[in-house]
Amino acid sequence: MFSKGLKDVVAVQTHIASVDGEIGELRYRGVLVNELIPAHSFEEIAYFIWHGELPTEQNLKYLENELRKGRDLPSHVQTVLDALPMDVSIMDALRTAVSAFCHTHFLTKSMNEQAIILTAAMPVIAARHYRKQQGVAAINPNPQLSHIANYLWMLTGKIPTSIQVEALETYLTLTMEHGLNAATFAARVTISTESDLTAAITSAIGTMKGPLHGGAPSGVIALLEEIGTQEHIKQVVEGKLQRKEKLMGFGHRIYKTEDPRSILLRDKCTSMYGQDAWLDLATVAEKEITTLLEQYKPGRKLYTNVEYYAAAIMRSIDMPPALFTPTFSMARIIGWTAHAIEQLQDNTIFRPQSEYIGNK
Ligand code: ACO
Repeated sequence: MFSKGLKDVVAVQTHIASVDGEIGELRYRGVLVNELIPAHSFEEIAYFIWHGELPTEQNLKYLENELRKGRDLPSHVQTVLDALPMDVSIMDALRTAVSAFCHTHFLTKSMNEQAIILTAAMPVIAARHYRKQQGVAAINPNPQLSHIANYLWMLTGKIPTSIQVEALETYLTLTMEHGLNAATFAARVTISTESDLTAAITSAIGTMKGPLHGGAPSGVIALLEEIGTQEHIKQVVEGKLQRKEKLMGFGHRIYKTEDPRSILLRDKCTSMYGQDAWLDLATVAEKEITTLLEQYKPGRKLYTNVEYYAAAIMRSIDMPPALFTPTFSMARIIGWTAHAIEQLQDNTIFRPQSEYIGNK
């Protein structure tokens, strides 16, 4: 049976996460993200997704230490990164640098060790290439700082405030894992050929880059900028719908009600911002756009997805739009690596059929 875009096809069984699109629930390893995220750090939740249990104090120290060590990129990866022209996008730099990790010494490590090294490297690569594009020198990692705080430090050279770290950590822990999204599927397909983890993550990064997947938050900022003021919402949105353009930050393949991550991020933004003109516009626009989508696309059940309020979080910490998708990828590598490891535990190569509809 043909299903365009594999809609409604169950292609994988997993222990890692469950997404209930009808009631709007996301669970990591059986636990609701709403309960998990506020109580734990990026490092703890990464461990939980990888291993199915929270780390002991000793395990956490080990993981934090390995992540710190992984901030030192191998010299050949630095050389590859430094050789890239400035106008290569940060997603392409990530894809290329991650791919360069695959060498004999790296391959002697266990998949779990490789996962930690690649996770540690992602923010370093993104920050280094971003600063190169800005024409400023790279900043060395700060061993005193957590994974998230160090990323902000390497971007700006300033120690981030606890509010900035908390805002970004909320977003990134909420987006670490989300079942069989396109990028995770790409990673599982690649590893199912018994290729290696760097190849799987390289495939995932290439897949994540597209505007229908990881590239949406910058589209949300552009949409709200185009709207400008509350009086223009209807006019701008109707124009887009009449031209059959997609509204970035709305719609989801699985969620047919509000995306629970969007609700959590909206609450986070409201508690952080208090009264803020941009957030006011975003919340009013959310309501009006949802109503207009119901008018123009009746029955499609289109609500905000995680990217809508992710844009607000990114804006609150002054994250440049060019870093939105790379930053999202820094989180999602946890899910990609967990899925690649799971795939190999009971592997069958992915090889669906195609239906020939050409000339006979
Ligand atoms: N704006 C306007 N119309 C939309 C939107 C939207 N954002 N999303 C879906 N629709 C419409 C489609 O035009 C289609 O209408 P039709 O039945 O008249 O043809 C109908 O709703 C179904 O949409 P599909 O695109 O078929 O749904 P699908 O499940 O394939 O796509 C997707 C999901 C890609 C997320 C889509 O909703 C979209 O493009 N959204 C905008 C981009 C976005 O925000 N991406 C981030 C997703 S979250 C993430 O990946 C982390």
